[in-house]
Amino acid sequence: MVVDFAIEPPDHPLIPISQRPPDPKLHAPLTQLGEEGWEMWARFDREVRHHRWHPFVPAEYDRVLAVLYELRRPGLRFLELGSAMGIITIMADLLGYEAYGIEIDEQLVQSAREITVRYGSGARFAAGSFLPQGWAWRPRDGDGRLGTIGEGTSGYQRLGMPLDTFDLVYGYPWGGEEAMMLDLFHDHGAPDGRLLLHLCSGELRLMHRGRIERTWPHAGDPGHLAP
Ligand SMILES: C[S@@+](CC[C@H](N)C(=O)[O-])C[C@H]1O[C@@H](n2cnc3c(N)ncnc32)[C@H](O)[C@@H]1O
Repeated sequence: MVVDFAIEPPDHPLIPISQRPPDPKLHAPLTQLGEEGWEMWARFDREVRHHRWHPFVPAEYDRVLAVLYELRRPGLRFLELGSAMGIITIMADLLGYEAYGIEIDEQLVQSAREITVRYGSGARFAAGSFLPQGWAWRPRDGDGRLGTIGEGTSGYQRLGMPLDTFDLVYGYPWGGEEAMMLDLFHDHGAPDGRLLLHLCSGELRLMHRGRIERTWPHAGDPGHLAP
């Protein structure tokens, strides 16, 4: 989708004024997508998470959206690690990224594809693991247990694109799993690529060449849904 960012925004209920994409054509679909994402999460929480543990906890969509808006450039390729219902990947597509998501839970991938169709989005999803085939986490303290990270066939093979073909990679790791995503990106990400992490504190952190390039601190209480 080609996006014109040159026009001032009208009023918008989801995204704070300071963070709004200035293309009015995007306001309605992005607002609706964010709201629908929260409704679907509430249903998922009721119908699935109340009965069994599941690692899907949603990011603060409006804040990630604002950062994606800031970082957008023509032709950037975006990947979401653990894309759940695909809300952020679809937002990235609507903002003009070439956007992909990898998610281990096939039912969530199915939901993401249905939402993609409803929004006329070109986002693409692979069911599988965001861990490349054969990669094992080897932290310095030697404890490479993966915690909430599921195991399965590599999603990169299904996408036909390795991790180092993405310009911007986004992930929302559970507490204690940030280091795994950093090591994964160090080992397999593009040398000039960027990794955007949504931390449990609510801070959004942009990594580039192993360093923190930018942060967007959480203004209020840290995300109440933080895993
Ligand atoms: C904390 S949720 C974040 C969801 C979404 N990225 C967001 O920011 O709203 C983590 C997601 O990663 C998925 N996941 C866990 N292990 C995975 C793996 N090895 N490969 C792909 N997805 C995985 C979970 O099923 C869950 O949907």
